[in-house]
Amino acid sequence: MDHAAVLIVVLQLCGTNVEGEFVDSTVKLTEKVKLECIYPKKAMIMQTSWMKLNVTHRENIAVLHPIYGIHIEDKYSGRIYFENASREDKSLSFTKSTLEDVGLYFCSIVTYPDGIWEKVIEIIQTDAFEISVNETNPVFAKPGRNVALTCTYKAGDSVQQVMWERIKADRVDTIVLCNPSGKQSFGSDFEERTLVDCSDQANSMIVIQNFTGSDFATYRCVATGRNTTYVKTYTVAATWDHRWFIVYIAGGISAAVLLLVFPLIFCITTAYHKKKKRKRITEDLSKAVYSTQTLPANSYGRCNFHVTQNTERRGEETSLGWAEEVYVNWKNVSHKPKERPLVSS
Ligand SMILES: *[C@@H]1O[C@H](CO)[C@@H](O)[C@H](O)[C@H]1NC(C)=O
Ligand SMILES: *[C@@H]1O[C@H](CO)[C@@H](O)[C@H](O)[C@H]1NC(C)=O
Ligand SMILES: *[C@@H]1O[C@H](CO)[C@@H](O)[C@H](O)[C@H]1NC(C)=O
Ligand SMILES: *[C@@H]1O[C@H](CO)[C@@H](O)[C@H](O)[C@H]1NC(C)=O
Ligand SMILES: *[C@@H]1O[C@H](CO)[C@@H](O)[C@H](O)[C@H]1NC(C)=O
Repeated sequence: MDHAAVLIVVLQLCGTNVEGEFVDSTVKLTEKVKLECIYPKKAMIMQTSWMKLNVTHRENIAVLHPIYGIHIEDKYSGRIYFENASREDKSLSFTKSTLEDVGLYFCSIVTYPDGIWEKVIEIIQTDAFEISVNETNPVFAKPGRNVALTCTYKAGDSVQQVMWERIKADRVDTIVLCNPSGKQSFGSDFEERTLVDCSDQANSMIVIQNFTGSDFATYRCVATGRNTTYVKTYTVAATWDHRWFIVYIAGGISAAVLLLVFPLIFCITTAYHKKKKRKRITEDLSKAVYSTQTLPANSYGRCNFHVTQNTERRGEETSLGWAEEVYVNWKNVSHKPKERPLVSS
């Protein structure tokens, strides 16, 4: 049984639900539940309708039109909003969801010239949303690449159907369902970029193209046989691109070198200039008949680098005051030597 994970599936979350509707996504009821609906194709969106199933018929919740704007039904006014009604993102968010919001939702997008694209989302109660992932196989993938996952059914009897799902903390998305007849039904978010061969159900494989940030999640294959259910779980994590890793390391080293070398050069040059300056000042001072007053040697002799670094890193620091004081002293000494005791006091 190698690394195969045999789990007890608490609930067959996605796929067809009680109403016989193919569910693209099952979302856990949370306080601010968000129903994600992002149009994945390129056709022009004419209008978007959000609806909820009430027993047998669909009830309108909201209509989004690129020219006429957003219309929200009175019943939902103030309870829902569209966080980012961009060209393709029509996701619906609840301000404060309640138990009444449990149910089946439809995001129906009328496009030109492709026609209607639809996503079915089911909100289920928090305690009904229970996923037990016992043993998972790690997979590493790079963003933007393709990821292939396999599922081999080893029991003796024949497979009836294979379901692939993407599992996250608060939702499960259907990737594809292979029916007993070999027919494939894709989840609306995956249809455009997923490859599957439903003809050999015992050895199912999917390829998800253009892996993006939200795709790094847990994946599950549920192969249902006549009297056994076989489950295999994968957790796909992002891996560092080797070249980028080298670039980062090299960048880090050069940054460290620069951080060490620059201050050193700066320190040496300032010390050199200070020395020259001190020499000049000493000459000036001796000329200015000020020989009785001896200035503290460290004011000019000390490397001034620490002052610059501190001010850069921590903004206004006390050492800046020290630098200013020294500067003021020097200025006053050279120009108005008599005022010096006043300033420094
Ligand atoms: C899941 O894990 C628990 C404890 O780790 C174990 O007792 C149980 O048998 C496992 N279930 C399956 C189906 O492997
Ligand atoms: C369902 O529809 C019926 C008839 O249109 C209506 O009376 C009822 O309030 C609806 N239920 C909900 C939960 O919206
Ligand atoms: C809104 O949509 C735009 C374009 O798709 C995207 O760049 C932006 O990050 C989105 N903002 C939020 C808050 O989701
Ligand atoms: C993957 O992404 C590339 C570039 O972003 C795009 O040209 C290509 O059509 C995408 N493929 C699919 C299957 O989405
Ligand atoms: C599954 O069903 C087959 C016949 O359909 C039977 O021979 C086999 O013992 C069953 N396996 C289990 C684990 O019940």
